[in-house]
Amino acid sequence: MRRILVTSGLPYANGSIHLGHLVEYIQTDIWARVQRLTGNECYYVCGDDAHGTPIMLSAENQKITPEELINKVYNEHKADLLGFNIYFDNYHTTHSEENRKLANLIFKRLEENGDIEAHTILQAYDEKQQMFLPDRYVRGECPNCGAKDQYGDSCEVCSSTYSPMDLKNPISTVSGSKPITKESEHLFFRLDKYAKVLQKWLNSGHVQSEVAHKLNEWFEQGLKKWDISRDEPYFGFEIPGHRGKYFYVWLDAPIGYMAAFEKLCTEKDNLNFDDFWGNSTTELYHFVGKDIIYFHALFWPAMLTSAGFRKPSAIFTHGFLTVDGQKMSKSRGTFIKARTYLNHLDPEYLRYYFAAKLNSRVDDIDLNFADFVQRVNSDLIGKVVNIASRSAGFINKKFDGILADKLDDNNLYKEFIEQADVILDLYEKREFSHAVRNIMLLADKANQYVDNKKPWVLAKEEGKEQEVQDVATMALNLFRVLIIYLKPILPAMSSKVENFLNIEPLDWEDLTKPLLAHKINKFKPLMQRIEQEQVDKIIDESKM
Ligand code: MSP
Ligand code: ZN
Repeated sequence: MRRILVTSGLPYANGSIHLGHLVEYIQTDIWARVQRLTGNECYYVCGDDAHGTPIMLSAENQKITPEELINKVYNEHKADLLGFNIYFDNYHTTHSEENRKLANLIFKRLEENGDIEAHTILQAYDEKQQMFLPDRYVRGECPNCGAKDQYGDSCEVCSSTYSPMDLKNPISTVSGSKPITKESEHLFFRLDKYAKVLQKWLNSGHVQSEVAHKLNEWFEQGLKKWDISRDEPYFGFEIPGHRGKYFYVWLDAPIGYMAAFEKLCTEKDNLNFDDFWGNSTTELYHFVGKDIIYFHALFWPAMLTSAGFRKPSAIFTHGFLTVDGQKMSKSRGTFIKARTYLNHLDPEYLRYYFAAKLNSRVDDIDLNFADFVQRVNSDLIGKVVNIASRSAGFINKKFDGILADKLDDNNLYKEFIEQADVILDLYEKREFSHAVRNIMLLADKANQYVDNKKPWVLAKEEGKEQEVQDVATMALNLFRVLIIYLKPILPAMSSKVENFLNIEPLDWEDLTKPLLAHKINKFKPLMQRIEQEQVDKIIDESKM
C-alpha cells in the first residue's frame, strides 16, 4: 500500500472560487479518489491563502477587519468546494497557529544556515496611506513606449519590464497620490545557493518535461535572491526577531500545505507528520496551475532543502481554463463563479467534462458550452445511464428485483474487467481524457450487447423469462463495472447507483465479483439531461 499526500494550490481569500480554480480541484480530487478506491492511503489537504496586501486592502474597503474577511470567505470557499464534491481530509487556512509555528521554524532554520540576508532596497511609498506599495499598486505611463495607465512592473502594450518608480507620472492606486521612493531593509532568501540542487532535481523527473524546459531558461539568467519580507502595515505573520517586518505571503503560503497536514495529524491518532515531511518513504504531490510553477518548483524545494524537510515527489502542473476559446471574461459572462454554476447545474456534469478534457500536459483546456451540453447528454445520459434505465425495469417488474444467478456472457464481462489495469494506469498518469475515452468505448459495447439481445422483444415471447432475466442481469453488471471505473469522476452518481443496486460502497476489487442472485432496489432516474437554457442563465447571471 502506498502512502500519499496531495495538495492543490491554496485559493486567495479575497475572491470567490470560479470555474478556473475548479479545473485544479477537480483534477486533484479525481486523482486522490483513484488512490483511495484502489486501496492506497491518500490524504488530500488544501486551504485558504489568507495573507497579503490585496486582502488587507480589500478588508479596508469593506470596512471590516482582515480576520472578518478571511473567515467569511473561508466558509464560502468550503461550501463551494463541497458543492462540487471535492473531498478534503482537511481544508485549512494559512492564518492559523499551525502555520505560524511552521513558518517560524522554517525561517529559523534558514537563518541558522546563513540563507537569510538583509539588504536595503528602494521602494515606492504612499505617504498618504503610509504604506509601501507592491508594484501592481502603482500605475503610470510606460517609460519605454509612453502607453498610459500601465502597471508598475510591466507594460501591456510593449511588454517591457521595469520598476514602478521608472513610470512617468506614477500614481498610487490605493490613495491616488503620487508615490515617493523610500528606503527599507528587506530580508532575502539565498535561492542562488540552491541552483545546483534545484537543477539536478528538476531534470530528474519531478516535474513535466515542458516545465523543466521552461525553468532551465531561468537558470541561464542566474537565480536571484528572493525578497521574503514586507514592511508593516501588512496582513500576515510578523517575523520573529525582526520588528515591523512580515513574511511575504508567498513565504508562508506553501508552508500552509504542511500546516493543513499538521492539523490533520492532531485529529488522527495513526497519522505522523514526520512520515510525510521528514523523509521520502511516502509520496508528496502538489497540483498547481502553470502561473505558480516558479514558486513550487524553485523557491519551495529550496526552502524545504534548507530547512531539512523532504522535497515533493512531483509537481503536477496544469494549464489554464478558457471558456469558448477565450480567457474568462466578466463582460462576456464567462467568468463564472462556482456558486453561480451550482445554482443551475449538477456539479458532476462539470467534473465529467473536465475529466474528458484533462491530460498530463500543461496545455490550456477549453470549456466550450455547446460541446459541454452535447458531451454530457450523449455520454452520461445517452450511453452510461441508458444501460441501467433500459434494463432495470425488467428485473424490478418481472423478477421481484432479483438478479439472475449467472452472467449471460462471461467473455464480455471479462473483456470489461480486463481494461482495469489500463484505465488505472491512465488515471495514475493523469491521462483522464484517455481513460474516459476507453470507458465510453465500453459503454458503447454494453449498449450494443443490449441492442443485440433485445430484451424488450424477449419479454413478449413465451418461455423466454430466464433469458430476459439473464440479459438484464448481464447489462446491469456491465453498468456496474462502468460505475466503478467512473466513480472517481462521479462520486455522487456512484452513490445513487450503490443505493439502486442495494450494495455497499463499490471499490476496485469489486470488479472481479459480479453481482448475482441479489435483490436490487427500484430504479430512479440517476441524472437529468442538460438543457441549453440552464447554461444561458449561468452566463446571463455572470455578466457584469
Ligand atoms: N494563493 C496562490 C496559491 C498559493 S499555493 C501555496 C494562488 N491562488 S489563486 O486563487 O490565484 O489560484 C489557486 C490555484 O488555482 C492555482 O494553482 C492557480 O493556477 C489555479 N487557477 C486559478 N485560475 C485558473 C484558471 N483560470 N485555470 C486553471 N487554473 C487556475 O495562486
Ligand atoms: Zn510600453
